[in-house]
Amino acid sequence: MTTTQRARSDVPYVCTACGTTSLRWVGRCGHCGEWNTLGPASVRVHRPGRAANADTVTAVALRDVSSDAARPLPTGVSELDRVLGGGVVTGSVTLVFGPPGIGKSTLLFQVLSSVASRGVDVMLASAEESLTQVSGRATRIGPVPHHLLALEGPDVEAIEAAVTRHRPAIVVVDSLQSISDPELAQPAGSLAQVRACVERLTRLAKSSGVPLLLVGHVTKDGDLAGPRAVEHLVDTVLSFDGDRHHALRVLTSVKHRFGPTGEVGIFEMRDDGLRAVPDPGPLMLGDRMAGVPGSVVVPVLQGRRPLLVEVQALLGPGTGGGAGAGRPHTLGVDAARASLLLAVLACRTGVDVPVPGEFFVAAVGGITITEPAADLAVALALASVVRQRPVSPELVAFGELGLAGEVRTVPGADRRLAEAQRAGFTTALVPASTLGDGAVTPPAMVVHGVRTLAEALALAGS
Ligand code: TYD
Ligand code: MG
Repeated sequence: MTTTQRARSDVPYVCTACGTTSLRWVGRCGHCGEWNTLGPASVRVHRPGRAANADTVTAVALRDVSSDAARPLPTGVSELDRVLGGGVVTGSVTLVFGPPGIGKSTLLFQVLSSVASRGVDVMLASAEESLTQVSGRATRIGPVPHHLLALEGPDVEAIEAAVTRHRPAIVVVDSLQSISDPELAQPAGSLAQVRACVERLTRLAKSSGVPLLLVGHVTKDGDLAGPRAVEHLVDTVLSFDGDRHHALRVLTSVKHRFGPTGEVGIFEMRDDGLRAVPDPGPLMLGDRMAGVPGSVVVPVLQGRRPLLVEVQALLGPGTGGGAGAGRPHTLGVDAARASLLLAVLACRTGVDVPVPGEFFVAAVGGITITEPAADLAVALALASVVRQRPVSPELVAFGELGLAGEVRTVPGADRRLAEAQRAGFTTALVPASTLGDGAVTPPAMVVHGVRTLAEALALAGS
């Protein structure tokens, strides 16, 4: 049976040159002999005189379609593989976005280096940096493997041609804002260009089977042309973030077509590149000063992963009506949430909150806390600094606070407590309802279920 005959009945691939269909992806069309012309059958092909009709169109039985291609290729960068659920999938497009200078190029260079060291070709398409600059970074990180190919320049057509020619196992395009489609008049970085380039690259990945990793810059407060606007075009979107002045970097999956989202990878930026941090505890809490008022540790969940974060509060000199008095100044904690917690503290407990007060609240280590589970710790830190009484350094607290001062349940209590115990904490304040739900409390910890902020304050001694 020829490819053409088989293809008519059940087929997911089609040659974009001659229209012949094929059950499996092959590098060379068996009919016309062209290389790299096979793409998913859904790609529109111009075939004069052969309109689709009931004689020419057949849907395939899904159970006959192999899912082998969806098996991920490990990148060898353990924290990235954890976030991706094993690695990159054949023909997939992954967008890694984050603020400039956070380490995206470093991360993806390390991916290339790691895959190339297994003896397969990989390729970096560097549109943003010259190859001399890339080489400078490379030598900082370690020996450069033989199989790491690099292409300099912004032309997306050149990238397509190089991928077709070299057929690398994986390709990094750095960055989306710097490449351009020569067929468009708009400048590189414009929304039209970014969209057109991502569309072309997505088609390239699907037709070649080569997994692509794309870098996209975003500014801290929003959306530089592009990355977020092309999320729907790609399979996976990863956010790479952290505080540039701290070593900690957090990689989070925002969208993932091949696995769960919300999974988190943690890295430390060193002089010789990014290092995976399987146990972030010492890095996060290493410099903590015991016995200082205003410091409380909260086990937050980043994805499914617990992370111990120190929350700090400070009462500034503007208290009593100075220029800075008013809404709390925050770093890594939502300002509106901190304001609300301050109001709860003032109205629902006996703590004499100065009004107006110049409060500062920060999450230490460059982490941004988005979970309401940190409410209790933030409120305890604020109370501690108002009363100038330190909270025990061996205590952790978590729970959401309501406006009535009630402590509400949050998910993942078991994981949070287990992490706190592992790091040597001996006491925990948790929502009483969590214990009622049968949360497993670690044997080496004293776990108090609290119903209100006032109860928590009494137990914390702050
Ligand atoms: P880079 O990967 O270029 O960031 P991005 O691509 O996100 O803009 O790296 C940014 C910073 O990281 C740069 O200021 C230097 C620092 N860095 C290190 O601290 N150690 C290293 O080994 C490397 C390569 C970079
Ligand atoms: Mg870069």
